[in-house]
Amino acid sequence: MTEHSRKTAASRASGRKSGLVLGIESSCDETGVALFDASTGKVVAEALHSQIALHAPYGGVVPELASRDHIKYGLRLIDQVLVISGITGNDVRAVAYTQGPGLAGALLVGAQLAASLAFAWGKPLIPVHHMEGHLLSPLLADPEPNFPFVALLVSGGHTQLMRVDGVGEYTLLGDTIDDAAGEAFDKSAKLLGLAYPGGPLLAKLAEGGNPKAFAIPRPLLHSGDLNFSFAGLKTAVANEVRRLTGTALPARGAASTSQPTLPADHPSRSDLAASVQAAIVDSLVSKSLAALKQTGLKHIVVAGGVGANTRLRDALTAGAARIGANVFYPPVALCTDNGAMIAHVGALRLAEAKNDYAINVRPRWALSELHAPASL
Ligand code: KG4
Ligand code: ZN
Repeated sequence: MTEHSRKTAASRASGRKSGLVLGIESSCDETGVALFDASTGKVVAEALHSQIALHAPYGGVVPELASRDHIKYGLRLIDQVLVISGITGNDVRAVAYTQGPGLAGALLVGAQLAASLAFAWGKPLIPVHHMEGHLLSPLLADPEPNFPFVALLVSGGHTQLMRVDGVGEYTLLGDTIDDAAGEAFDKSAKLLGLAYPGGPLLAKLAEGGNPKAFAIPRPLLHSGDLNFSFAGLKTAVANEVRRLTGTALPARGAASTSQPTLPADHPSRSDLAASVQAAIVDSLVSKSLAALKQTGLKHIVVAGGVGANTRLRDALTAGAARIGANVFYPPVALCTDNGAMIAHVGALRLAEAKNDYAINVRPRWALSELHAPASL
């Protein structure tokens, strides 16, 4: 018997008192399901289905397709997780699901699935904030950070610096005034002729490039606050691509011509990728270090999809070390969307579990609206 299945047997033996939380993530383009054991603090089993191939031909997420795909895979993944861990719905203590923020239709699929199962099993439901899932995922790593800490949240839709004093105790320190860092990666990647989602592909292309080859702006770098701006970066890349491909800007007042992309064999492609990545990383690192100095805290965690970026990890680790601070990351597999981070928050918020099966998703929902959970 493996250690994994022994643990599962122990959870089953404890029956109704078990701390097994089933988590369901469906806010965007990943269907994620996981079982987290609140009594051991460990992920028992997880399953993930990525929709990347489904959306790639469209260059971005198509919400209607995302919802339909969550319908197709949700129940299948839940089945997988229950089979892997050898438990039934009876052994589950509560069902957690992503209530928001995210795509309304996609969220509704996960919420409906969670509510139906919880109702059928007679178990309570826990609505979870997707970004709290990301924010607390470094607690699943070893070593884990102690509260209080600064968190840099960098995903496709968010770029925020938060002060985190405990679960649910979040103070916004800085935010993007326009595009998110992940969006800047993805939009720049598109201009470089890369497929969706461009972030990881741009990072790969940048590996052999010269980060100083192109002067890409770092807006708000010296603004004195902790805010970010990435929209100008996309314009700078678009202008470089026009210059490199010899495409003229449309005359004032003229109908705009379509934006060219850099051909795959262009000699400057990896230099431009490296320069864009360096500009995004510089902005993120400089404001993160400023947040540490401003709060006097010595720990910073990085969470969200862009947290998988190696350049960002290396630069932030080096910068933090210079000021005597430590950086904590979730395991790379937990940087992008997954069910484990939702089940984990569900376990931390078990006291909020309710036998209330009303479907109520929150596509827009600020992290700072959350409160500390009551204790069990
Ligand atoms: O957290 P996430 O999986 O989904 C959202 O909640 O948005 O983040 C997705 C974002 C995308 O913009 C993707 O391009 C970016 O994270 N990303 C990366 C890397 N891996 C994912 N960006 C840069 N470098 C990476 N290695
Ligand atoms: Zn996410």
